[in-house]
Amino acid sequence: MDNREKVASRLCMIKDLGKYGNLFGGNMMAWIDEAAAIFAIKTSGEKNMVTLHYSEMTFRHPVKEGDIVDFFCGKVRRGVTSITFEIEAICAGRTVFCADCVFVAVDDDGQKKAIDWNTPEKE
Ligand SMILES: CC(C)(COP(=O)(O)OP(=O)(O)OC[C@H]1O[C@@H](n2cnc3c(N)ncnc32)[C@H](O)[C@@H]1OP(=O)(O)O)[C@@H](O)C(=O)NCCC(=O)NCCS
Repeated sequence: MDNREKVASRLCMIKDLGKYGNLFGGNMMAWIDEAAAIFAIKTSGEKNMVTLHYSEMTFRHPVKEGDIVDFFCGKVRRGVTSITFEIEAICAGRTVFCADCVFVAVDDDGQKKAIDWNTPEKE
């Protein structure tokens, strides 16, 4: 992924494992969605961003107890109400998960709203 940014890291602990001793897929999805939300909020400057869409998800390699997983985001596309980007999880130098996602800005009533891309801190 070009121009990617490290957003978060997680340590895989016993409580995170599923059967067979691998990181449970649902936990990885929760970690991914939290890291993606952080990136969407910071990049858009909007306080309320909701998950709209994830592309196909593939778990390429197992994550084991004691592994550290780093989450990177990049390939940003700015929309009117949305932001689209790629999120990648890396563990021990290998891509263990990668997906495209779309987050949408909403107002306090949960209705979509236009993102103001012109404020200086977002440039
Ligand atoms: C997010 C939500 C407000 C969007 O409302 P909506 O009327 O369905 O929105 P639209 O269909 O007009 O799409 C909004 C944006 O997403 C984009 N979009 C919609 N469906 C998409 C898809 N399948 N793939 C990629 N982009 C998509 C649209 O192009 C549009 O982008 P733009 O404004 O930047 O051009 C609404 O769908 C919702 O509340 N969903 C539930 C969110 C949620 O609870 N998430 C989980 C918890 S955070």
